[in-house]
Amino acid sequence: MSRAEKVVLAYSGGVDTSVCIPYLKEEWGVKEVITLAANLGQGDELEPIKEKALKAGAAVSLVADVTDTFIKDYGFPAIQANALYENRYPLSTALARPLIAKLLVDAAVEHGADAVAHGCTGKGNDQVRFDVSIMALNPNLKVLAPAREWGFSREDAIAYGERFGIPSPVKKSSPYSIDRNLLGRSIEAGILEDPMIEPPEEIYLMTKAIADTPDEPEYVDIGFERGIPSSLNGDHLHPVTLISQLNELAGNHGIGRVDMLENRLVGIKSREIYEAPALLVLLNAHRDLESLTLTADVTQYKRCMEETYSQVIYKGLWYSPLKEALDAFIQKTQERVSGTVRVKLFKGNATIVGRQSENSLYTPDLATYTSDDQFDHKAAEGFIYIWGLGTRIWSQQTRV
Ligand code: ARG
Repeated sequence: MSRAEKVVLAYSGGVDTSVCIPYLKEEWGVKEVITLAANLGQGDELEPIKEKALKAGAAVSLVADVTDTFIKDYGFPAIQANALYENRYPLSTALARPLIAKLLVDAAVEHGADAVAHGCTGKGNDQVRFDVSIMALNPNLKVLAPAREWGFSREDAIAYGERFGIPSPVKKSSPYSIDRNLLGRSIEAGILEDPMIEPPEEIYLMTKAIADTPDEPEYVDIGFERGIPSSLNGDHLHPVTLISQLNELAGNHGIGRVDMLENRLVGIKSREIYEAPALLVLLNAHRDLESLTLTADVTQYKRCMEETYSQVIYKGLWYSPLKEALDAFIQKTQERVSGTVRVKLFKGNATIVGRQSENSLYTPDLATYTSDDQFDHKAAEGFIYIWGLGTRIWSQQTRV
């Protein structure tokens, strides 16, 4: 029995998604496979990918250039939310999934497809992000995931593909599983599966080893407008240019590596290495600017929202009522988060060394220890009497 008539498949050009094309047609009776490759600034050439899909049997091969949208509508809101999963992973892969899901759903409508498909296995987070995003955007579409069911090893997949004219990878294929976009790279598998083994230097592409970084620090002034990164060293830049330039600058100083054991959504712990130079620097700088421009209670309350926001992104709930409600809160808080943060890049560290804003809440007259001090020291006494009253009463009642 046929699982679907016409399917839009998320396509990367790799062996697994290529094999999905004949598999959907031969094994699952799909009449027409339309592939969709998204350019998220990962640096792959799209024309060969387009050709590859057609050779593997796709009826139509679509390419969507969405780097802009990816940074503006997915990356920047995450920066405004200071989103870090388990305090460390800046969600560079996770953020791309809801956008790809949206492209699939839009293409399905446009081409009259009754299903969409992806090449994720049953062990990861990405299948959840795709499936849930797709059902949120269009609950009537079927979602097909061949790799969740076919039970192929890598060799099996290559052999199956060869039967349908899909060339096996020319280079000895990398032992790692790598995902990449303009915001970062995620690297897992191979010897990284032993959490005690130090990642070999060869896995890194966006960040230099500390031994190879410059011996002089470099300073960069990052401008924000309403929580959105807008300039580097005073130059207003397009979002994609800003991220590319900052990736270069920070990566050159060895900044942006994360080696972590993370808790996946499906209950597995996995060891993942991330490189996200610009994103990690921006998160750091943005948080600092908030400490200058938000009141204490908003800053502190926002921390709980940020934790939830990170979970929402990680766990595939980008298109959910909770995310929408959190966005409303976060956008409100960003209205006055404008200004400049000075960052010193040196030997793997991005240290914030200065910040300024027209909306600064920092009051020198009150903070100073010099004779200019305007703070009413005597007022502290009455404040502390009342502030500590509950504690004093408790102590009086309970001391023996
Ligand atoms: N663990 C990361 C996440 O769930 C990255 C997943 C993709 N990683 C990879 N190496 N292919 O967002």
